[in-house]
Amino acid sequence: MTAPLTIAELKKLAKRRVPKMFFEYADSGSWTESTYIANEADFKKIQLRQRVLVDMSNRSLETRMVGQTVSMPVALAPTGLTGMQHADGEMLAARAAEEFGIPFTLSTMSICSIEDVASVTKKPFWFQLYVMKDRDFVIDLINRAKAAKCSALVLTADLQILGQRHNDLRNGLTAPPKLIPKHMWQVAMRPRWCLDMMRTKRRSFGNVIGHAKNVTSLASLAGWTHEQFDPKLSWSDVGWIKEHWGGPLIIKGILDVEDAKAAVNTGADAIIVSNHGGRQLDGAPSSISMLPKIVDAVGDKIEVHVDGGIRSGQDVLKAVALGAKGTFIGRPFLYGLGAMGKEGVTRALEIIRNELDLSMALCGKRDIKSVDREIIAEV
Ligand code: FNR
Repeated sequence: MTAPLTIAELKKLAKRRVPKMFFEYADSGSWTESTYIANEADFKKIQLRQRVLVDMSNRSLETRMVGQTVSMPVALAPTGLTGMQHADGEMLAARAAEEFGIPFTLSTMSICSIEDVASVTKKPFWFQLYVMKDRDFVIDLINRAKAAKCSALVLTADLQILGQRHNDLRNGLTAPPKLIPKHMWQVAMRPRWCLDMMRTKRRSFGNVIGHAKNVTSLASLAGWTHEQFDPKLSWSDVGWIKEHWGGPLIIKGILDVEDAKAAVNTGADAIIVSNHGGRQLDGAPSSISMLPKIVDAVGDKIEVHVDGGIRSGQDVLKAVALGAKGTFIGRPFLYGLGAMGKEGVTRALEIIRNELDLSMALCGKRDIKSVDREIIAEV
């Protein structure tokens, strides 16, 4: 069998290997999924400018994201419940990213804990923070990320309340995941996934269990997660997070020029233009359509990154051309992970790197750092 050649092929494989409720957890957007769909569709509307008879030898994709050298301008986005796409998913994805020379971002709502990921990686990874009502727990998370030598903190700003995803409701997917009779069949249909899962003890939120006050069991964790996200979080809270953290801070979930300016005022190092992969405000514009406006407004004051809908190296190239210093991918690596574990994450990255490298050359560029709007075709 030939190795998967596209992210779409990895997605098909993942669908066959991951229990339905977890595959659909990754593969869904909120409500009508119009923003989720637009994220991908809007990339397709952007055309690249083909150039010929220019020297295309000795190419380089190396650049920097938030002060760190990366082998290509791609990082793994924080995704919750990654350890449910594949046993020990966060540890496997972190190692794949490390070997590839790109950042891995661990979600607060991960299955493997900060310490688990630190135990299998040599280079620093990034940590994504959700701000909870229990501020002592938040400070503890920040301290644990520091102790694990995480090299950037990604503060997610667009999920203080949860957008509704119909698939999760229909599938009875709760946080933390709890097996109900309805799921038994879905799980039984995926014996390989089951066997892997039986070999690991990591089946619930590793960053929370044993760390948040009074959360010692799955039962107490369920109640805790439901009431913990703080709807009162505001711009004025960013200061104390920055102060406690003391390192590079990235604000994720910026989709509006005014919010981008507010992010600059916090002194953050970078922003991620993002609509949470179309999982929050349905009807919001795609990330890529907002990127140029945000880059024009604040690109000279803060590093601007983007995520949402990237499914190929050509998409990465378009994002960089429109001013993104770096990009983040969520579902593409989750599909790889679900399909083939660590090897699948590596495969997803290889696919993207190959597409990015060749497409950059076909646009007449040899160095990713020299890519700019010039390579976008007028439409
Ligand atoms: C996410 N995302 C996300 N973001 C975040 O800050 N913390 C989180 O825990 C999660 N969890 C999560 C789970 C799953 C299954 C998905 C698909 C996404 C959003 C994620 O970081 C990123 O913004 C999007 O995934 C980018 O879009 P693509 O690449 O998936 O299209």
